[in-house]
Amino acid sequence: MKRTHHCNELRPNHAGQTVTLEGWVHSRRDLGGVLFIDLRDREGRTQTVFDPSDLAPDVFETAAHLHSESVIRVAGHVRNRPPGTENSKIATGQIELQVRELTVLNHAAVLPFSIDDPEIANKVNEELRLQYRYLDLRRPEMLRNLRVRSKVATATRVFMEEQGFLEIETPTLFKSTPEGAREFLVPNRRDPGTFYALPQSPQQFKQILMVAGVERYFQLARCYRDEDLRADRQPEFTQIDIEMSFIDREDIYALIEGLLKRVWKTALGMDIPTPFRRMPFVDALNLYGIDKPDTRFGMELVDFTAEFRASTFKVFSGTIAAGGVVKALNAKGMANATQGQLETMTEYAKSFGAKGLAFIKVENGEWKSPIVKFFTDGEKSALKSKLAIEEGDLILFAADQWLTACEILGKIRLYCAEVLKSQGRLVMDPHRFDFLWVVDFPLLSFDKEMNRWYSSHHPFTAPVEEDIPLLKEDPKKVRGQHYDIVVNGVELGGGSIRIHQPAVQKAIFEEMLAIPPDETKLRFGYMLEAFKFGAPPHGGIALGFDRLIATLCGTPSIRDVIAFPKTAKGTCLMTDSPSSVSTRQLRDLHLEVTAAKKETTPTP
Ligand code: AMO
Ligand code: AMP
Repeated sequence: MKRTHHCNELRPNHAGQTVTLEGWVHSRRDLGGVLFIDLRDREGRTQTVFDPSDLAPDVFETAAHLHSESVIRVAGHVRNRPPGTENSKIATGQIELQVRELTVLNHAAVLPFSIDDPEIANKVNEELRLQYRYLDLRRPEMLRNLRVRSKVATATRVFMEEQGFLEIETPTLFKSTPEGAREFLVPNRRDPGTFYALPQSPQQFKQILMVAGVERYFQLARCYRDEDLRADRQPEFTQIDIEMSFIDREDIYALIEGLLKRVWKTALGMDIPTPFRRMPFVDALNLYGIDKPDTRFGMELVDFTAEFRASTFKVFSGTIAAGGVVKALNAKGMANATQGQLETMTEYAKSFGAKGLAFIKVENGEWKSPIVKFFTDGEKSALKSKLAIEEGDLILFAADQWLTACEILGKIRLYCAEVLKSQGRLVMDPHRFDFLWVVDFPLLSFDKEMNRWYSSHHPFTAPVEEDIPLLKEDPKKVRGQHYDIVVNGVELGGGSIRIHQPAVQKAIFEEMLAIPPDETKLRFGYMLEAFKFGAPPHGGIALGFDRLIATLCGTPSIRDVIAFPKTAKGTCLMTDSPSSVSTRQLRDLHLEVTAAKKETTPTP
């Protein structure tokens, strides 16, 4: 007998019908000799009833000994639940299935953790969940995430197709072009000592596709980066990767706003307002100390360089004299922070390069701080008005070079927000999405240690037209035609209008980035060559698909929206990869491992 319905389907209008369900034993209760088994499949749950008075004794016995998560098939009659026993929490809560036949399709061993617990993610260590990922994925919350992911992938494809884009796959066995994150290498058996690299993104292929006349390309692309992992980074991840010809920045903004509108409607049924706000990089740093500001709450950074230029507090005036700035923020209502908490905050600031973290606590009408004695009345009143200081506030200062001061207070702002959230004093509406385009990034940044310029985004980004003359005079002032899309403090994606003239691209590589000509030829020669044959003006963007889904699902970790993610150490606990390979495989690849093998301690 085949399954006739899924476990989320039966309603009072099915009462009296004979049906067959298949699924997993979700939970089991014995009530006065009658056995209730909640049967679960991908769609939902149905209560089934095993009554010994209408079942053969062996059937009842079998049911009574079933372990959770065993797979069964049951056939029987649908009936309305007796009044007062309905369960409004599940869609099938009005009915139950009176079982006549039971087939055990497979027994389940004792589970490493219970999956019938909505709090599981907080109770069970994530490593155990990753080791038994197939069990973790049976939880409705995880299945919902996979479902959202699948729906959004489809909605994206439909939208992009409507907009005239072609979905084109690009190779994942690529060439090593070190720039940005470290690459994963794949040895080539046929030519010992040569390697493929897994692509960090399809950047170069998508630009070549523009040279090829494709005009509108997209792909749900797998990307690989061997970088330090965090909650929002995986070594392999997915991008919605896009490139278009004959366009400018406005076309990209409009396209992505349309795509995200469709995605939010599909996944959450929400209408998000467009166009999105735009904020220059400099403003984002000045106000929020970060290029991906969370604008759902205030606590903006305020500049006091002018006010403290002549201060008797030498930490401030000295920093300003050395070309630095003084910035402050008002951590509203945090004056009750203990000495220990302030020290922790100072240490945290120092871990980002701060020399200290001066503070003022406003308590009992008094400004408590070791530095207040240095402040004049004028300085105090400037602080009071520009920071809207009130009783109970905590003011925090950073005196440093502009970028460092901004970044330090940006971190402290987020830290304070976390403290306030944990105390229930800052509550984020889960349905609020603050979208933001961050624009006008500097094209180049300077690496003091290496004493050279590097691309803020990547070396293919075009400078803002009117800034081109500054390339030689004052490279740090040149803005790139680069944009990031940010939502609630998450960098969802980024892209740029590209350089399409081979001479300009060559000059950026060789003159600005100081890559020697022979190396440029080796690494990017094929691109410069392709660009000689009529490259159209073009630009594009890539959205982090995993981050997009995590945002929609309201989880801070992209691991929760990837079926088989890696741990922070880059391992897969279920398959136990990466793992060593046989001497024979190494010999075939002409490779020799020189690192001493780590002793693996057997787990108790
Ligand atoms: P970028 O490097 O900014 O741009 O990447 C685009 C987006 O990809 C996501 N992302 C990641 N997601 C998960 N794990 C990671 N390790 C990871 N790294 C990046 C982020 C990021 O915003 N080729 C360019 C795009 C372009 O110029 O068109 C690129 O890859 O959400
Ligand atoms: P000091 O005069 O070094 O004892 O510092 C007095 C206060 O200023 C302490 O709270 C320090 O943490 C703080 N402080 C020192 N240097 C800086 C700086 N560059 N920016 C902000 N606060 C600082």
